[in-house]
Amino acid sequence: MHIVNTVEALRALVNTWKAAGEHIAFVPTMGNLHAGHCQLVKAAKETADKVVVSIFVNPTQFGIGEDFESYPRTEAQDHEQLRAINTDVVFQPAVSEMYSPTAKTTVSVAGLSELYCGVSRIGHFDGVATVVCKLFNMVQPDIALFGLKDFQQLAVIRTMVNDLNMPIKIIGIETVREANGLAMSSRNGYLTSKQQQIAPLLYQTLCTAREEVIAGTNYTTVEQHALLTLQQAGFQPDYFRVCRSNDLAPAQIDDTELVLLVAAKLGKTRLIDNLCFSKHTA
Ligand code: PAF
Repeated sequence: MHIVNTVEALRALVNTWKAAGEHIAFVPTMGNLHAGHCQLVKAAKETADKVVVSIFVNPTQFGIGEDFESYPRTEAQDHEQLRAINTDVVFQPAVSEMYSPTAKTTVSVAGLSELYCGVSRIGHFDGVATVVCKLFNMVQPDIALFGLKDFQQLAVIRTMVNDLNMPIKIIGIETVREANGLAMSSRNGYLTSKQQQIAPLLYQTLCTAREEVIAGTNYTTVEQHALLTLQQAGFQPDYFRVCRSNDLAPAQIDDTELVLLVAAKLGKTRLIDNLCFSKHTA
């Protein structure tokens, strides 16, 4: 497994592979890898000849007072896990390699970036879109894989790729969950043992809401019920919304392809999750 820190070294490898006609899959991460990330890398391995994984804790997607400094950095364990699943290259640039101090360009997906998580995390999705755009230009992959857990992030990236005619196929991979239903996330490590017992309720609330939607309960009632359940369990909910899965607009009664989106804080830890389903096949 190659570990490279510069765009120049990365490009040298990628150019050799491209010259040999090999297809490249890319999995961007911020490190502190868990089974969800490994699932992305394994799926990447099945679809391409070479797999590049980036590890970069991107400062521009963290707001003031968020956890950029304390975000877990576990380089040695990450490398060990990536080696075990036959990753070809780990691209691990320094902040100075990624961002020139004179840079003037930001990539912003208007509208979508201001909804839901974008309301309380102002500028977050601009930070994500910009770094992912830069990483795509550095790696030049044929395919890129993202977890469906970050559903809004995936929608932002798909929109960017489409709007900017990037020749990259974007693949969303199913969320990996703990046995109790909690979606795997690097931020789960912040939870105290008491909070770990409460946290699975986030997914249970999504499942209950899906049943209510299918039973024909009106969406406002479903949302209010979910928010109340979370509050009573000790969460501070940010939002719980019934949305159309294709564009994340608030769902109307005739829409059939839906996603329930939720974000809630448990103590200082902000957790997100979602549940995608079709009213037709329900
Ligand atoms: O999902 C993440 O880990 C990050 O937002 C990403 C896509 C690697 C961009 O920094």
